Amino acid sequence: MLIGRRIFVIAGCVFALCLASPLSAGVRVNSPDARLIIASETLPDAIDTGQWSLMVWVFAQEAATEPSSILTVGGHLAVVAAPDGIEVTAQHDAYQASLRLDTPLEPGRWHLLAVSVDYRARLAAAWLATDQGDVSESEIASVSDRLRRASDARQFARDRRQVGRPQIGPRSAVRSLGLGQASLDAPDPMLAPDGSGLQLGASPLGLPSAMLVFDALAIRNHPLNDTDVRRVWLSRDYYAPHGLDTRDDGGRMNGWRGCEFLAFHAVGPGPIGPGLPDDKASYVGGPVRPTNVILLTQPRERIEPLSYAFMTVVPVPYAAGLVHSSRLEPDLDGFFEIERPPFDAPTEAIGPLGEKGRMLATEPTGLLRVLVSANSRGVRGTLGPQPWPEGFAHGFVQALLPRMAGVLMRPATVIDVRGGWFGLDTSQSTPDVTLVRPLHARTDAWADWTRFGSGTLPAVSRGPGPAMSISPGGVYRLRCGPVDGSLLRADEPLVVRSTLLAFPGSSTLLWTPERGFMQHGEGVPTGGQAEVPLDTTRVALTFTDDDRFIGETLLVLGRVVDVRPGDAVVVIAGPARGSVSVVTEAEVANGVTSVTLSHPFGHRPEAGAELRIGPWRFVSVEHRFEPVPAGDDRNWRGQVLRAADDDLLGLMHYATSAWRPDVDGYLFGSAGQSGQGYTPQLESAFPGSLAAWAVESQVDVWIQGLAQQSSQPSVMREYLDQLRVGLGEDAEIIWASDGVHAHTTHHAWHRYLQENAADAGVAAIFAVGHPRVGSYFAQAASGMRTDDAHFSSFGSRVIAEAWLDQLRNLTGGPCERADHNRDGVVDVFDLLAFQSDWQDGNPRADLDGDGEFLIFDFLLLLTAIDQCR
Ligand SMILES: *[C@@H]1O[C@H](CO)[C@@H](O)[C@H](O)[C@H]1NC(C)=O
Ligand SMILES: *[C@@H]1O[C@H](CO)[C@@H](O)[C@H](O)[C@H]1NC(C)=O
Repeated sequence: MLIGRRIFVIAGCVFALCLASPLSAGVRVNSPDARLIIASETLPDAIDTGQWSLMVWVFAQEAATEPSSILTVGGHLAVVAAPDGIEVTAQHDAYQASLRLDTPLEPGRWHLLAVSVDYRARLAAAWLATDQGDVSESEIASVSDRLRRASDARQFARDRRQVGRPQIGPRSAVRSLGLGQASLDAPDPMLAPDGSGLQLGASPLGLPSAMLVFDALAIRNHPLNDTDVRRVWLSRDYYAPHGLDTRDDGGRMNGWRGCEFLAFHAVGPGPIGPGLPDDKASYVGGPVRPTNVILLTQPRERIEPLSYAFMTVVPVPYAAGLVHSSRLEPDLDGFFEIERPPFDAPTEAIGPLGEKGRMLATEPTGLLRVLVSANSRGVRGTLGPQPWPEGFAHGFVQALLPRMAGVLMRPATVIDVRGGWFGLDTSQSTPDVTLVRPLHARTDAWADWTRFGSGTLPAVSRGPGPAMSISPGGVYRLRCGPVDGSLLRADEPLVVRSTLLAFPGSSTLLWTPERGFMQHGEGVPTGGQAEVPLDTTRVALTFTDDDRFIGETLLVLGRVVDVRPGDAVVVIAGPARGSVSVVTEAEVANGVTSVTLSHPFGHRPEAGAELRIGPWRFVSVEHRFEPVPAGDDRNWRGQVLRAADDDLLGLMHYATSAWRPDVDGYLFGSAGQSGQGYTPQLESAFPGSLAAWAVESQVDVWIQGLAQQSSQPSVMREYLDQLRVGLGEDAEIIWASDGVHAHTTHHAWHRYLQENAADAGVAAIFAVGHPRVGSYFAQAASGMRTDDAHFSSFGSRVIAEAWLDQLRNLTGGPCERADHNRDGVVDVFDLLAFQSDWQDGNPRADLDGDGEFLIFDFLLLLTAIDQCR
């Protein structure tokens, strides 16, 4: 019974797998006319000497049903995939060899294709290795032959075809495609003309492109032999064609010195090389263009973690019909050995998880609000042309998109590189704002306000909070739009919540809910205007000659003033207008009030300045919107914040959250500060502000990532303690280490988490030791990096998936996983419930957490059922 059910389930799965397999996504051929041309000047001289070899990893998306071109090197090489084999033509001067491998490319599998030309020995050889599941030498097919005078070679090839070999190859294909041979000046019609460069995909002779994914293509300045190809293949090391030294084993590869050309070894939104950043940038899933191909030509050094060389873009004459891909994409995943971090990285998650952590690992009941804090890796915005910001929170947004109900505490900005934020996207249209300015970009008095919040992008910001001021009479609107594939939908209700600061000297907030077309233009009000007083002034005074500063932070007022610890002191008029600090101690003696401030004013008040003193607190204003009527494109909903037109300081806005209520889903957001470790983040913040901000966020789970600048690992504990001051036991805090970077600074942090999490009473998760993440070098090959310190948007997704994987590891044994319908019994109904969830794309069925619904999820369930029996 169970067996029968299994077969049924797996057959259904394979069928759906075929449907789900993306046609578009190294570089991935997207259409039969896909072609990438690399100029012959860019290719190494070794080709012209006749002593050379080429190796490339290829993944076959489909079987070849007609002869199709894999690659050509003008005047030297043509490799053609046919339904029943691979045809290789190699030529040097008047000498040629026609080689035939009787093994075709197998769909859904990785291959290593290698060709070697040894003119001195008059030999050519070709190899095709195919992944058959387990690594063994029998997977490698090879053929070699003499280089003969071209005319003899052609006769030889014809004879060979006549003795019963299937009639395949370009001769017939060229004719059928209507290209006259006569127009070609190559010595042989199988070859593209000399000087036409390296062409991947559709051949200059008219053959369509083989439907492949190309990864790491290397050209070496020496011939290969069996030992070399076997060693490269068995290594499953992405970079082996570049750097392997096989000489001790009887091979000919002499490491990186013999490699004179390398392509597709990285994908990066922040590459180097000539050209404009936007033109050079590439991202996983994005189009391959002539200006964004990552090539290493004539490498003078081994590509190494501290070398940027592997991110070099060299313009190519032509590229179309291909997209950049990562070996970690679902169909390509699992073949390469991912190089481990260069130290003994922790791999086991540390528990236990509380109820909220379990909801993050499995599925939410109601809304689960999650913040991820770190340095730049936590708060990065959208570095073009990626569709999502690079911050960790957006890694989760991508990984959990079908369950994303909204965004938490989107940092206040006017419009900057944060751009394509989940829900609150400002990249497509710009919000209307009047008299609004970001304070995190300022260096004057006003920059003091950034000491209240968290989530700032610029490292130069005075404090960790992305404060924005709306001057008296000013207006700020920001709207939340529907996001395809998520729970944020126009035909469902939406809550938008803005977080501001109440402080002495604040204007009154006037706010109106409205909806409109994306961000710009007038909206339709969906409710009346409300007034929210935010001024907390207890004392108003004018700074006189009797008042003075001692040092930077001791303010001595020549009278008795009601000042209390925790108060904010704000300068609202005079040259220092806009400065603020917070009182840590206040003392009255002999008619004089001594006030100790936590931080110096950005601009010190002088005689005549007007000061306001009183408490501060965060205040959030929220509105619940009804569903948008069907067919109405003014379906972006948000608040209009107006500052009353008075002579006060205006409004201080910190963050906007937006979510769909009454649904089981996640909200994610970012905290922390770019370029700053937790020690400077804590030191530059006003006392109690982090705790207050955390409480105002309503967070359920706080994922505390690493932030190492000017900090020791033990600051993890200090930051945690600050969070607990605010959150108590209401929110769960989880320590999380990301991947390795191009330096060793983080090693001690990973270990600190491992050794101290249990003591600190938090769970800890380690992407750093996760098998998909790997070394810095490995991350580059997977499209995970922007540069030596940052992850790409795709990289943050992989990190989030690794963290989710680790969290799931903490949620229980196989029986818990196997009992899919949670009825306490493991039986066929679990399989049926699973199948239904799987077909619906319910994240509960995404057992390996890769965001895809593939056969591997079924296999994990079946394994769990077996283990539980
Ligand atoms: C490969 O080439 C090296 C150097 O020429 C030679 O010593 C070795 O025997 C060759 N190995 C095989 C398997 O042909
Ligand atoms: C999950 O736990 C198992 C058993 O301890 C371990 O082998 C595996 O590597 C863990 N997986 C992750 C992603 O941490």
